[in-house]
Amino acid sequence: MKIAVLYGGISAEREVSLSSGKGIIKALEQRGHDVVGIDFHPERLEELLKLDVDMVYIGLHGRYGEDGKIQALLDMLNLRYVGSGVQGSALAMDKARAKLFFAQNGTRTAKEQVLYRHSYERGQVEISLPFPLVVKPNQEGSTIGITFAEDKEQLLDGIDEAFKLDETVLIEEFVSGREVTVAVMGNRGQEKALPVVEIVPKNKYYDYEAKYAAGMSEHIVPARLTDEYTEYVKKHAVLAHQSLGCDIYSRVDFIVPEDGTEPVILEVNTLPGMTPTSLYPDAAKAIGLSYEEMIEELVTLSLK
Ligand code: DAL
Ligand code: MG
Repeated sequence: MKIAVLYGGISAEREVSLSSGKGIIKALEQRGHDVVGIDFHPERLEELLKLDVDMVYIGLHGRYGEDGKIQALLDMLNLRYVGSGVQGSALAMDKARAKLFFAQNGTRTAKEQVLYRHSYERGQVEISLPFPLVVKPNQEGSTIGITFAEDKEQLLDGIDEAFKLDETVLIEEFVSGREVTVAVMGNRGQEKALPVVEIVPKNKYYDYEAKYAAGMSEHIVPARLTDEYTEYVKKHAVLAHQSLGCDIYSRVDFIVPEDGTEPVILEVNTLPGMTPTSLYPDAAKAIGLSYEEMIEELVTLSLK
């Protein structure tokens, strides 16, 4: 098959995507495909069209790659691609709005407050949640722009940081517990949850360094959870994926609290990292799929 791999791009997660793209290109080449890698900027669209490919593998992350925009462009050009379409991508990228869908499924979410730049005045924020808090740009990935706040001053600084990256800021209660993630794979209605991956970061939090520097996190598969918790997160991962209208694959992140209460869903990632330290490939490995076989499977699923 002739496949274009779009990677790099112009989001804050460009570096991560360069690494994902490299892995995806190598895997597809090893599987015998005719692969063309494109470090994708909008001005390279004409080049993509001229290639006349059978499939586009979107190896981008974050803005313009994961948020439905490139998917819309490819739909309009009648180009087939791997993964979720416009709506699922856009909803999953919008953490605050996605939480409304998760709640409809009865999945527990962290208590939150949402701030909008146009109505935010520094220092004027009334927060009804107890500290510690997590402050996130609403539509970012790889923990970029995320800060933890123990007091009001840190909170205000965190909000300023997050507003540098997004017009909407999500403030959430901090839930202490095991960080786990569920890889979802399959066509609509046939999605399967892969074995749960537990993340043990060497840093205090699973931050950017813990995510991408070799050896900075341990991945334990299957996660050390009770059967009940394992079933819960698998079931709710698939529900979350389906409720946003995602397709082919995604990775759904949870915190399993230390106090024995219900797991908390964090978000759905529609273009999960495919780097050497990424989680989705480890979940695939646990069902016997090598990295190359996993990439091939995602392409095959996208043909249906
Ligand atoms: N946003 C990064 C790529 C991930 O979820 O793996
Ligand atoms: Mg993410």
